[in-house]
Amino acid sequence: MTEYQSRRASLVEQFGKLKIDALFVSFLPNVRYLTGFTGSNGMLLLTPERPTFFTDPRYKLQSAGEVDCHVRVATGPALPRVAAQAARQKIHRLGFEAARVSFEAYDSLKSKLTLGVTLRPVTGIVERRRMRKSPAEIEIVRAAVKINSEAFEQGVRAIAAGMTEADLAAEIEYRMRRLGADKPSFETIVAAGARSALPHAHPGAAPLRPGGFVLIDMGATLDGYSSDMTRMLFLGRAGRRAKALYRAVLDAQLAAIDAVRPGVEAGKVDRAARAVLRRHGLDKAFLHSTGHGLGLEIHEPPRLGKGETTRLEEGMAITIEPGAYIEGFGGVRIEDTVVVTANGCEILTPTPKELLVL
Ligand code: GLY
Ligand code: MN
Ligand code: MN
Repeated sequence: MTEYQSRRASLVEQFGKLKIDALFVSFLPNVRYLTGFTGSNGMLLLTPERPTFFTDPRYKLQSAGEVDCHVRVATGPALPRVAAQAARQKIHRLGFEAARVSFEAYDSLKSKLTLGVTLRPVTGIVERRRMRKSPAEIEIVRAAVKINSEAFEQGVRAIAAGMTEADLAAEIEYRMRRLGADKPSFETIVAAGARSALPHAHPGAAPLRPGGFVLIDMGATLDGYSSDMTRMLFLGRAGRRAKALYRAVLDAQLAAIDAVRPGVEAGKVDRAARAVLRRHGLDKAFLHSTGHGLGLEIHEPPRLGKGETTRLEEGMAITIEPGAYIEGFGGVRIEDTVVVTANGCEILTPTPKELLVL
């Protein structure tokens, strides 16, 4: 059995409990997870006997090589074909991804279904399975992380006088691709000086000037899998306030990493980071959650945030990324990609975490 077949089989096993006979999957990361398809237009009608994949002629050759289901290629809207296939296979209760199907698509699918076929909303079943990575997936994430760290190192070495945030972001993304990445996992963030207090700054024309932090948040996607890392540089001599801010966030990050193990609620990891920042009077400066799952998407479940009750499990790939942001001064975030192991976690990110003073 291929990994795709066993993923599909484990979903089919849940059909009874979900009271469905088939599942219509249209969210591309889920389609990719279940079929291997890497293109931009593909849908899966997952049935116990005959999983069928739908695409258009642009992907005829590609899907023949990638997808190990029955493939149907045609031009025009796919939903009528999905409905016709469901009727042919005598499906009565057709599950669909409630959080992923637009109202328009739902309406269209519903109008095409023959009498006796009902649509049943299903939420997050593929996403739940995707949380736990297989050993093969973990190896891909590990390789994506390695490319990311190498691109960071090369990018930092290329820093020169007069460079802007946008220049450094472009340099980093170029290095990622040269190192074999498919693409950046998200738009690389480079935020200099007081702009580092914007957690998701868009890199702009601001020059990298001495006397401030530079926040670099970057990820390289490899074979569809993301990586995610944030590191801080300081240009010139770091003062006492900058050093203390950095130390507090680093302590929070280490405390959160320490809390990661199977069985622990995701919210508890978040609390571990928050408790450290509170001791430094920085809890109000921590503007986001402590981390998130990553894989075929850059942000996927579980979320490591306040009150999250999802329990961590061995094989989950997650980020640990507390931060503290002070308006007018600057911000610090430190982020690693880690994998939950049998009794703790393995930090995949090899880049050192001392404040890099240039
Ligand atoms: N850059 C997005 C994140 O760190 O989650
Ligand atoms: Mn990040
Ligand atoms: Mn992240």
